[in-house]
Amino acid sequence: MNGKKRILSGMRPTGALHMGNYLGALANWVTLQDQYDCFFFVADWHALTSDYESPERMGDYVHEILLDWLSAGLDPEKSTLFIQSRIPEHAELFLILSMITPVPWLERNPTYKDQIVQLQNKDLSTFGFLGYPVLQAADIIMYKAHGVPVGVDQVPHVEITREIARRFNFLYGRVFPEPDAILTQTPKILGLDRRKMSKSYDNAIYLSDDEETLQKKVMQMVTDPQRMRRSDPGNPEVCNVYEFHKLYTEANITQQIDRQCRSAEIGCVECKKTMAKNLIPALSPIFERRRYYQAHPKMVEEIIDSGSRNARDVARQTMREVRDAIQITY
Ligand code: TRP
Ligand code: SF4
Repeated sequence: MNGKKRILSGMRPTGALHMGNYLGALANWVTLQDQYDCFFFVADWHALTSDYESPERMGDYVHEILLDWLSAGLDPEKSTLFIQSRIPEHAELFLILSMITPVPWLERNPTYKDQIVQLQNKDLSTFGFLGYPVLQAADIIMYKAHGVPVGVDQVPHVEITREIARRFNFLYGRVFPEPDAILTQTPKILGLDRRKMSKSYDNAIYLSDDEETLQKKVMQMVTDPQRMRRSDPGNPEVCNVYEFHKLYTEANITQQIDRQCRSAEIGCVECKKTMAKNLIPALSPIFERRRYYQAHPKMVEEIIDSGSRNARDVARQTMREVRDAIQITY
């Protein structure tokens, strides 16, 4: 596509996206659309590696994440949007890559070790879970992506992808480029209660909220916990409301708030109102697009059908090259 470099990224469909997901990944994808030939996909098979016991929710989650993406501004005219499981070639490439991937590469993967400890309530001693990075490598190199926009937690996976691509090229001749991670800077936005923003803490601002809900949530936000009374001076450095000001309020006003907070000239209620006044119009186009796509579900279907067709054409071509390289041509 007109000389632009290709990038690819994916998200597991695990429920509604919140501001943390938006600022940490999605907003970045939206800007990258103008610079790169972008492929973005819903990693439903990846979600199945840990949630294989409850597949009944997957359909809703896939639908929901697609709405979130389109609302956030992913543009089907600029990017190829697709669903992993619509492209069975991913499974074929995964299988072939699994032949050449040494098990110790997977066992020493820090994300793997970490998740096994963190998700104690699930039985993750499966072949599929260990092989997660091999599937991810297949996703990435299938499209010969040069860049993979991800958060730091995914860097080990991109590293394994590079190793697998290198090994494939070494054994069978050069087919794949080695992709680079494109690191996303994540602002340190917290949840309404100052814990990490997370669906499970019920403290998140969602892309699927609306203006009214957003206003309410901002007014509920916990500020500087040391600031008990209106007359107490506050510390913006520890205040989550202030983090939002830094992103959504003009710089000179933000500086003024910093001073007025420290001298107790401004109260938290007023400060939040100012913040909401800037945040709401910034997110309102997202809410609006969601209302539009919700009213036009056929359009969403068409977008994903045509994106998946486009992705599949590329995947078929790559698999022809792969079968040639490994001499499965008989
Ligand atoms: N593992 C990624 C995550 O959780 C999702 C993912 C699957 C992905 N395949 C990918 C990301 C390929 C980038 C490229 O968040
Ligand atoms: Fe936070 Fe604003 Fe209150 Fe200061 S005045 S603690 S910045 S909400």
